[in-house]
Amino acid sequence: MRSILRLLPYLRESRRLLLVVLVLSVLSQAALLLTPKVIQKIVENALEKTPENIAPWALLILGLAIIKGGLSAAETLMGTRLGQRILLNLRQDIYAHLCRLKLRFFDGIRSGELLSRVTADLEPIDTFFSWGARLIFRSVLLFIGVLIFCFSMNAKLTLVSLSIVPLISITAFMLGMRIRPTWQTAREKVGDFTSALEETLSGIRVVKMCTQEQNETAKLTRSSESVREKTWRSNRIDAAYHPITGLWAGLAGLMILAYGGSLIIAGELTLPEYVAFEIYLLLLLVPMRMMGWMVSGMQRAIVGAQRIFVLLEEEPEPGIEIRGREGEAVGISPAEGIQGRVTFEDVAFGYREGEPVLSNLNLEVQPGEIVGILGPTGSGKSALVALISRLYDPSQGRVLIDGEDLKKYDLRRLRRQIGMVFQEPFLFSGTIRENITFGRPEASEEEIEEAAKRAALHEFIVGLERGYETIIGERGLNLSGGQQQRLALARTLLTDPRILILDDYTSSVDAHTEFLIQQALQELMMGRTTFIISQRAASVSIADKIIVIDEGEIVEEGSPEELAAIADGHYRRLLEVQKSLGVEKH
Ligand SMILES: Nc1ncnc2c1ncn2[C@@H]1O[C@H](COP(=O)(O)OP(=O)(O)OP(=O)(O)O)[C@@H](O)[C@H]1O
Ligand SMILES: [Mg+2]
Repeated sequence: MRSILRLLPYLRESRRLLLVVLVLSVLSQAALLLTPKVIQKIVENALEKTPENIAPWALLILGLAIIKGGLSAAETLMGTRLGQRILLNLRQDIYAHLCRLKLRFFDGIRSGELLSRVTADLEPIDTFFSWGARLIFRSVLLFIGVLIFCFSMNAKLTLVSLSIVPLISITAFMLGMRIRPTWQTAREKVGDFTSALEETLSGIRVVKMCTQEQNETAKLTRSSESVREKTWRSNRIDAAYHPITGLWAGLAGLMILAYGGSLIIAGELTLPEYVAFEIYLLLLLVPMRMMGWMVSGMQRAIVGAQRIFVLLEEEPEPGIEIRGREGEAVGISPAEGIQGRVTFEDVAFGYREGEPVLSNLNLEVQPGEIVGILGPTGSGKSALVALISRLYDPSQGRVLIDGEDLKKYDLRRLRRQIGMVFQEPFLFSGTIRENITFGRPEASEEEIEEAAKRAALHEFIVGLERGYETIIGERGLNLSGGQQQRLALARTLLTDPRILILDDYTSSVDAHTEFLIQQALQELMMGRTTFIISQRAASVSIADKIIVIDEGEIVEEGSPEELAAIADGHYRRLLEVQKSLGVEKH
């Protein structure tokens, strides 16, 4: 219930429309509630044998039906509009929040699971707001209206018919209690299935080459079978309760028939009143029958809302505020135009608690210095640079830029000063131009070409039939690993960062091209603090300073010449091994 209440602010945002819907609901129910009264009049006239009075009352019934029809149609239209608007606002908030969450959150959740939350779990909320909530409101109005009219006619008969209300309430409550957990597990299974499907599809190459098509299909089928089974269980419970509520409604009818009859005989109720009573009860029958549906629909919406609010409660990155829905940034502090001095003070870090990845890290990098980072795979090189752009925060110690703790900076401004080419380049589906200008959509033609040239990609692009407008990604050209890396490099260079981080950015690029890129970057790196991560000693030979990391600690630090001179040093050994293996590119 609490999670449904948390949706209330969304109602408040559209309160004018809400008011219109409420008024339309009240009016249409009023028209409906007057009808049995008019029928009562007709029966009275029939009994008194005054047929001339019947026609106007009959016309009134017709009029009421038309008015009720019109009002209902308007209410449905406006109500659906209201539901859609609420959903849209909720969606926007969810997406805005998701984009602001910490990287740590995404490490801990499968993307398929996330997808199912922001799509499938919204559906029951959609249904609830589009018409479930209105149905409940209308039923409540009708119930109150019927009570008022019935009490005004005969209190005793009303009380007797009310005696089934506890039965109905208990039934509805029990249904709610039983259906919610089954629906919850059903939704979890949907999440599992979406994740499994997403994994199979994105790993389809591996699936094919390991000839696991059959096993994967079986796995997906099992998962989808489990969704079906859990949903079916929930549906069965739902179905079992419908006849029970129907039974209570029938019982109420029976009581009115029996007790009402005796009241007529005793002269406490007139026949026309009795007829009106019956019709009022009939009016209540529909909502009573739908009670089970309303309860289970509401439970589904509650489960959906709970699963979604768990996301909304996740702590976002500090300082990345998206105010309102316009997405304007809230700036706080200086980072415009940083110098680029980077300091690590006794830094320790781990992705997970109890599993340290970096420890005892002390490092001082002057503005404009080129730092080469070497170390075996898994030693923590990528983790180290992730701390500089605050993709993660250290668990101990501080990372500083220009002598200020990173935490004091406005995160967005800070990141605008730092350019990072990730180890695994990511391209969006779209044109080459869109991919290069992703961080600076307003860049000029010359700037775009300049960045592509420095990344040794321009020649390749202009050789394509559609040049910079070539569509890549899912529905277009697929780029080779090296081309993707160079595109990612061009994207980063275009943002003109003060601190440049290149994480193994030439691992898929041939020796000649790497040489070209290094040449082109040399000039660009002047005056920028640059971190170059590599597995190869030669790739960092242009560095002013090299650090060698092993098991999360800096084991060697100095200029390439200094390190090469250490007789049994890591760097020197690496140079020698790579030379003897012929790994050296040049
Ligand atoms: N997102 C993550 N969640 C949990 N552990 C991680 C994550 N990313 C990396 N690790 C672990 O952290 C350690 C350091 O990883 P890191 O990516 O920094 O290594 P690296 O030096 O960059 O290696 P490589 O040269 O292979 O890229 C590894 O033991 C790895 O298993
Ligand atoms: Mg790495």
